[in-house]
Amino acid sequence: MGKLKILSEFFLVLALCLPFVAMSSSEEKLSLFKPPMNEFIDSLMNKMSLEEKLGQLVQYAGGGSLGFNTGIDDNKKEMVRKGRVGSFLNVSGADFLADLQKIAVEESRLGIPLIFGLDVVHGFKTVFPVPLASACSFEPEAVEKAARIAAVESAVSGIHWTFAPMVDIALDPRWGRIVEGAGEDPYLGAVMAKAQVNGYQGDGLSFENTILACSKHFVAYGAACGGRDYNSAEVSRRTLNEVYLLPFLAAVRAGAGSLMCGFNDISGEPMSANKDLLTDLLRGKWGFDGFVVSDWNSIGELLNHGVAKDRIDAGKKALSAGVDMDMTSGIFGEEILKSVRKGEISEKLVDKAVKRILETKYELGLFDDPFKYCKPEVEKAEILKEEYIRFAREIACKSIVLLKNESGILPLKKDLEKIAVIGPLADDSRAPLGSWKAAGEEKDVVTILEGVKNAASKATKVLYAKGCEINGDDKSGFEEAVSVAAGADAVVLVLGESADMSGEARSRSEINLPGVQKELAKKIAETGVNIVVVLMNGRPLAIPWLTENVNAILEAWFPGIQSGNAVSDILFGDYNPGGKLAVTVPRSVGQIPCFYYHRNTGRPASEENAYSSKYIDLPIKPLYPFGHGLSYTEFKYSKLKIKEKKVEEGDSLEINFSLKNAGKFSGSEVVQLYVRDIIASIAPPVKKLVGFKRVYLEKGEEAEINIKLPVNLLAFYNTDMKKVVEPGKVEVMIGSSSEDIRLDGFFVIEGKETEIDDSEIYYSSIDVKR
Ligand code: NOJ
Repeated sequence: MGKLKILSEFFLVLALCLPFVAMSSSEEKLSLFKPPMNEFIDSLMNKMSLEEKLGQLVQYAGGGSLGFNTGIDDNKKEMVRKGRVGSFLNVSGADFLADLQKIAVEESRLGIPLIFGLDVVHGFKTVFPVPLASACSFEPEAVEKAARIAAVESAVSGIHWTFAPMVDIALDPRWGRIVEGAGEDPYLGAVMAKAQVNGYQGDGLSFENTILACSKHFVAYGAACGGRDYNSAEVSRRTLNEVYLLPFLAAVRAGAGSLMCGFNDISGEPMSANKDLLTDLLRGKWGFDGFVVSDWNSIGELLNHGVAKDRIDAGKKALSAGVDMDMTSGIFGEEILKSVRKGEISEKLVDKAVKRILETKYELGLFDDPFKYCKPEVEKAEILKEEYIRFAREIACKSIVLLKNESGILPLKKDLEKIAVIGPLADDSRAPLGSWKAAGEEKDVVTILEGVKNAASKATKVLYAKGCEINGDDKSGFEEAVSVAAGADAVVLVLGESADMSGEARSRSEINLPGVQKELAKKIAETGVNIVVVLMNGRPLAIPWLTENVNAILEAWFPGIQSGNAVSDILFGDYNPGGKLAVTVPRSVGQIPCFYYHRNTGRPASEENAYSSKYIDLPIKPLYPFGHGLSYTEFKYSKLKIKEKKVEEGDSLEINFSLKNAGKFSGSEVVQLYVRDIIASIAPPVKKLVGFKRVYLEKGEEAEINIKLPVNLLAFYNTDMKKVVEPGKVEVMIGSSSEDIRLDGFFVIEGKETEIDDSEIYYSSIDVKR
């Protein structure tokens, strides 16, 4: 009934638009689509009361800690009937959502469909590695595929919209939400942001296997002072532009249809009321035409920030700044209604936000078929398919980073007599699901213990002891763990954090192994057995003792439902590890912030110079640098050619080199391209990643790597805060990590300083010729 109401209007509008249909050039083909949407929405809005308009701007929680859908009570349903709500989050399930949608389209006056959102961040039912892990794959194609599968699985469960990708750059591992993003680097972050938007939104929102992406948390939420969640950010405009905004620009350019503003303030300007960034930059300069949703009650929290005197004031500030949808505070539905009635806020402002939301619903095809996402029959068939599970194992393998492998202890032989699997995370099925498990279930998780048992030969004895809990000071399990370890050919010691030690509101003041895990490791080490540590954690952990005292370390992060199989593939050599760190691992909390693209300073750190920028009680270098990750094979880099020695703004520079797999295993290498401006008007970073590619080579195989580097990727913000390409000499560094540079060369940018459009984004392209 509701659908008919809207469609009859639609056909009337279509008839009016027939002249557009008759046109034939490609430009006019656009008009064939556009006028109907605009006119359809205009005509719908003409019929909407102020209450109904504001209803579109209101999102309520349909669930929470008790589970999906638990918040949909009679009161909420009544609001749907009255057209006083436009969206729910934390809801799921084709049957349930079809019923809820039915109320909106059949029982509300205008039948406007609801839009259902959920945090589908690293998988829906098939849970993939957490984003920090999958960024370590340095393989955007894999990350895109994971997002694609997540979109398919969630779309058949009635979800239209994911609050992902989370594209916050994070330099502080104390911040719990570092787990949700792509790490420290803006270029890597931009590539991964684009890949995820493409994955979620697929070939377009009108397809029923795609969902709307929402890049978040705009912006600098990851710069929370001290890594304490929700804390203020202090960021210069230059760093904001060059570091924190870049992945958002990538998401917007990739077509992300929505964006969430952060809880944080930047130097006192809360992002939920930041007109400069939400309207002038995002919509004005960047031309973003999707809609902006607040974070959970972040409009209400403008009172706590101290920038709004009451809820009315908070609502006015958020709406005027450019927030279109209010997540959970209810202010847009209640207080804004009062302000418009009193004439304090113009209805035109409300209309703008309503239009953006209705346009998105239109683009999702919800006015054509509000139930197209709710297909219970398809839901069962599409979820946890064999091929998705296979891919979960593949991407987990690609995401795991081999930090250390002393005297090639790994890979382990499959026919060892006795393997001891020890540690509080060894048989844990919750942690692998990570921070946003969506609909993921523990029963679908393969633990490390199970994975080792699956992979080891039948003759191998696989023994297990938990040893201790993840947290707490109980050492009563040590004795059993030591006796299980004694005489083993290898101990696989699985240590780290629980899933709820990272994520939202999970900042830590220490970044060491929690509880008595280090002591457990020491006890096991005293037995003299070979120890391979497998780390599961949502942030870089400061583990200098492990680094010095165990034989091998695999950083697995939270690898998803196929954890155990993927880790075992690597332990036993069925998969040659090739993941690289997307984030620097500091030696201790005191070394934070510790990231590779710092500036040189006037006193660059030096062992020889006491009066240089360093700590007196720490080595200069981090424990593991950005881009680090070992392989079972060895890669040789040679024959660097920089084709043009002189280039100008707008040019593309060709760089070639040769990569050979000179070791004994087939495998992959992430080749990393860094540049350094030698002299510039603004102190340049010591290195800046401007390209990378994961290259798979058979043993003995050699390939030619061809890079096209747009010179504009070297632009920076000058003293007038203009984005410019400056003439000068540039060092090119190609390496296996940010510290392990294998090839080095130079080129020169000629011409005069040239301002470039800073709403454009540039990527290197890298081809492999075999
Ligand atoms: C708050 C979080 O900051 C945000 O990332 C998330 O999307 C919303 N809650 C909804 O769950």
